[in-house]
Amino acid sequence: MERSHPVKSTVDKIIDAVAGDEKPGEIPGVPNSEPPSLEEPTEPREPLPPKPDQEGPDTFSPTGQPTGAPQAQMAQGGAHLTTAQGLRLRDTDHSLKAGPRGPVLLQDHHLREKVMHFDHERIPERVVHARGAGAHGIFRAYGTAANVTRAAFLAEDAQTPVFVRFSTVIGSRGSADTVRDTRGFATKFYTSEGVFDLVGNNMPVFFIQDAIKFPDVIHAAKWHPDREIPQAQTAHDTFWDFVGLHTEATHHTIWNMSGRGIPRSYRMMEGFGVHTFRLVNAQGETTLAKFHWKPKLGVHSLVWEEAQLLNGVDPDFHRRDLFDAIEAGAFPEWELGIQVFPDTPDQMFEGIDLLDSTKIVPEELAPVQAIGLLTLNANTSNFFAETEQVAFHVGHLVPGIDVTDDPLLAGRLFSYLDTQITRLAGPNFAQIPINRTHAPVNDMQRDGFHQTAVHRGVAPYRPNSLDGGCPFTAGAGEGAFVEVPVEVSGRKVREAPASYADHFSQPRLFWLSMSPVEREHIIAAYTFELGKCYEQAIKERYLKVLANIDPVLCEKVAEGLGLPVPEAPEPLAEPTPSPALSMIGKTWPTDGRLVGIIAADGDVAEVEAIRQAVLEGGMTPLIIAPTGGMLGGTLPVQRTFVTARSVEFDALLVASAPPPGNDAYGARDAKAGGGTDAPVDPRVLLLINETYRHAKPIGGWGTAAQAISQAGVPPQAPGLAIAEDGMTALEETLRLLAAHRVWDRFPAAASLA
Ligand code: HEM
Repeated sequence: MERSHPVKSTVDKIIDAVAGDEKPGEIPGVPNSEPPSLEEPTEPREPLPPKPDQEGPDTFSPTGQPTGAPQAQMAQGGAHLTTAQGLRLRDTDHSLKAGPRGPVLLQDHHLREKVMHFDHERIPERVVHARGAGAHGIFRAYGTAANVTRAAFLAEDAQTPVFVRFSTVIGSRGSADTVRDTRGFATKFYTSEGVFDLVGNNMPVFFIQDAIKFPDVIHAAKWHPDREIPQAQTAHDTFWDFVGLHTEATHHTIWNMSGRGIPRSYRMMEGFGVHTFRLVNAQGETTLAKFHWKPKLGVHSLVWEEAQLLNGVDPDFHRRDLFDAIEAGAFPEWELGIQVFPDTPDQMFEGIDLLDSTKIVPEELAPVQAIGLLTLNANTSNFFAETEQVAFHVGHLVPGIDVTDDPLLAGRLFSYLDTQITRLAGPNFAQIPINRTHAPVNDMQRDGFHQTAVHRGVAPYRPNSLDGGCPFTAGAGEGAFVEVPVEVSGRKVREAPASYADHFSQPRLFWLSMSPVEREHIIAAYTFELGKCYEQAIKERYLKVLANIDPVLCEKVAEGLGLPVPEAPEPLAEPTPSPALSMIGKTWPTDGRLVGIIAADGDVAEVEAIRQAVLEGGMTPLIIAPTGGMLGGTLPVQRTFVTARSVEFDALLVASAPPPGNDAYGARDAKAGGGTDAPVDPRVLLLINETYRHAKPIGGWGTAAQAISQAGVPPQAPGLAIAEDGMTALEETLRLLAAHRVWDRFPAAASLA
């Protein structure tokens, strides 16, 4: 990236905080803006405001005009319970009956209205990307793209409100967050020239080259149609059957098998527009470009066991992480960047077909140039109204950004509007508050289900004289979108160009660009996923695909599957590796990370100081104690030995070696298998052991060394910060955390180095 903003290290932040420059936040997760009273409230009052971290959509009219109304006017108001017609009600707990024992009377209009509305609360989930989480934010342009695009929102210092929705692709709305899958990264820019949607993923390539196969790849990846299992995962026969027979999917599949398929957080993912777009500048000159989002926190993944445990322990892990970080003031940030290419007639760059969405252009060949900064700074105030009803579309374009002839993009240009007619029940979903443009609308569209605009005039056609000729078309100089007049010719055929036949050189490029430990994880992922297939033929066929990527990869997976290694194929391509594709080897800010602190009654004074330092460093400290309430009478406890599980923490601090709590009985809690006569609480030992296995930093002081050793962690293990005092242990732990994980704990096989 050409331009970047300084990001303070955690240790710097602690120093600033001690000097009084930064204020510590609170533990996020509070349910509402006011704590509840113990007694049931009975005094009528207006609804509570949302929490300070929450916002709703900006208040624009259905036709894109600012109303200036406060957001509260979009929500329910008034202190008393009413019907949908505003009629006040005296009772909502009893149906109207002929006598207390019934029967219920048909005339009960309140009962019927209440149950009728409830019966229709659900709408169809998205056919793909059904599960997601959204947030509001702001995009500030650097102006560095002004030479290639005339898009107003990319002019220097232009500030544009945005709404972002992250998602998984395959699972249903209620599935878990940390499944192995591609993640959606869709951004709605409410620009002065109309809505621009950048509907991307966290991987730069796609499974297929032509949208006509999209129903097929999704049918293969989702559950089997006879039993509707498995949910939200590709580790089953139909998926591997498809990708073994459509080898154009090899590149996307290796990305899925890497750590990119199990991100640590939405805040720690890259985003990609995937397709090549055509940019147009003020002089009408065109450039081809690919969009990239680069997270300020770096790109980080879970490890597989962590992801699996999380699916059960906290299926909302990614949602919670996003909401909590924003609530805690650790606003996630990404730089938007572009790779630019000359708009040549063949639309190729360095031999790479820019219209083939299964190919990347390595950053070493075309650097990503930063063009603006996205900051997510507000949580939603209503999930359904905002995250569920938002409707993205790759055809929402603004002057200066046009599409290319990528056949995958062409299908998408049809698909999004089409699906939303069903999902959002009719053609007027652009008028739903979260979808409203911030530019005036005069589209001559009329009527339809859920029409909320009250149009005027008598002549919704053009030209007209009865409405004074309004609306008028605009010229390019008046901000009109004018398609680039690209030359088009050719025979009408159902064929792909010859360049689309190369399915293996870029998966190999990806493999060669990985560090040894990342390769180990890729091998393990293929072995797991193929190992869950029932049919030997499907596994054997896919081993042949792997042989086209790399012989060592193929051999190791074959070994894990207990199958013969297939014959080596034609000589493999030898692409130059792209170091930019690896996720490890640097350090990053730790904003919004969760630090678990295991403490017991005697540790309070020092633990309080450590907790404060973690807060001041922009992270969230969670005190884990034998029971809830207040530790030592003063320190609030967030997790107990019963509720804590290692997978929710990025690092663990151990203040002492707490003896078994009174409730540490194996019969009551399988985690407490060690019984009550062990010197350290068995649940604490499990916490430490898992944290160690997942290569997360562990800090300790006091008698912590005893607990760490009891947990089976060798004293010389890498990534242990055992110190005389808590503050030294904390500082060292946070230094380790800046590298995300203690990678040395995963020794890679010599053959992978
Ligand atoms: C580069 C390839 C693709 C990318 C990056 C991509 C990305 C996305 C994302 C991020 C979403 C979720 C939007 C949201 O949060 O509401 C989505 C939804 C969807 N995508 Fe794609 N997609 C791709 C290819 C396709 C293709 C080829 C089709 C169809 C031919 C398609 C059809 C859909 C549909 C129907 C939805 C649901 C939309 C809704 O219900 O509002 N996608 N896609």
